[in-house]
Amino acid sequence: MAENVITTRSLGAAVEGVKDQYADGKAAKVWEVFIGDKNSRTQNYKNFLVGMLREKGCKRVLDVACGTGIDSIMLVEEGFEVVSVDASDKMLKYALKSRWNKRKDAAFDKWIIEEANWLTLYDDIEDLVGEGFDAVICLGNSFAHLLDNYGDQREQKQALRNFEKCVKPGGFLLIDHRNYDDIINSGSTASKSIYYNPTHTTDIRTSVLYVSGKPALVSLDYLIDLSSDKEQKDLIGCEDTISEFRLSYYPHRLKIFTAMLEQAFGENSKFRIFGDFKTLDEIDIPNFYIHVIEKSSTHF
Ligand SMILES: C[S@@+](CC[C@H](N)C(=O)[O-])C[C@H]1O[C@@H](n2cnc3c(N)ncnc32)[C@H](O)[C@@H]1O
Repeated sequence: MAENVITTRSLGAAVEGVKDQYADGKAAKVWEVFIGDKNSRTQNYKNFLVGMLREKGCKRVLDVACGTGIDSIMLVEEGFEVVSVDASDKMLKYALKSRWNKRKDAAFDKWIIEEANWLTLYDDIEDLVGEGFDAVICLGNSFAHLLDNYGDQREQKQALRNFEKCVKPGGFLLIDHRNYDDIINSGSTASKSIYYNPTHTTDIRTSVLYVSGKPALVSLDYLIDLSSDKEQKDLIGCEDTISEFRLSYYPHRLKIFTAMLEQAFGENSKFRIFGDFKTLDEIDIPNFYIHVIEKSSTHF
C-alpha cells in the first residue's frame, strides 16, 4: 500500500515472501560504521540484556534479526548457545565471515546461522526450536522493517505469533523499536542513541508518510561521511566518501504495539517496557523502547 508511494531504494527479494531492504548491499557494507563504537553498544547490552538473561538462567538464545551479527557475537562471547537468523544474505554474509574467522574457538564453532523469514520462522527452523528457546531477541529497530502491506497489521501479528512459538514456556522475548511516537510528533530522528554511536553519520533525514490520515511509513535516509577517514573507507571498500542508504519502517505506536504483543503472548504472560534500557520512570523521551515479555509457563 504505502510502499507504492515511497519505495525503498533496494527492492530485492531474499527468502520467499519478504522484501530485503539490504539486497543492494549498500547498508550492509557500511552497517558497522553506522553502528559506531561497538564497545559502547556492547556495554549497554551487557549491562541490561546479559544481566537479565543470566538472572533468569537462560542458556539458549535465538536472535531473529542478527544482521551482521553484532548482538549474537556478544552473546556467544558471553557463553550463550546462540542460533541467529536473518532474511538478508547480504547482512548474513558478515555474520558468517565472523564465525569463519573465529571457527577455532569452540563457542563460535557451535554458533548456528541460518537464513529465515519471520513470516515463516517457525517452519523455517522447527528442527532447531525443540522445546523452545530460553530467550528470543529482535533488537536494533529490526521489527519495524516489516511493513503493513494489507493495512491491518496481519503480517506483523503473524511474525509475533512465530516469535511466540519459538519461546519456551517461562522464556522471554526481547523486542524493540524506535520511539516512533516521538519521530511522528517531531518529524526528526536522533543520529546517536544507545545502539548507535557513530562518528561518521552526519544526518538521518526523516520522512513520514501518512495514508488516510494515519502515519503509515517512516523513511530514514542515512548519510555517512567517510571523507575524514580514508583507512575506514578503504577497509570497507567504499568508492565514494559519502555513503547514503535509505531504510523504510512501519511506525509502531507504543500503545498499539504493546497491545499486539499482549494478543500474541496471552494475558497470563508478563509484560514490561523499558526506554533506552532504563525503566520508564527514569527516562522522559527515550530513543528506543524495549519490550520484555515473559511467556506464561502454562502457555502450551
Ligand atoms: C536494522 S538491522 C539490525 C541488525 C542487528 N540486530 C543490529 O542491530 O545491528 C535489521 C535486520 O532485520 C532483518 N529483517 C528485516 N525483515 C526481516 C524478516 N521479515 N525476516 C527476517 N529478518 C528480517 C534485516 O535483514 C536486517 O538484517
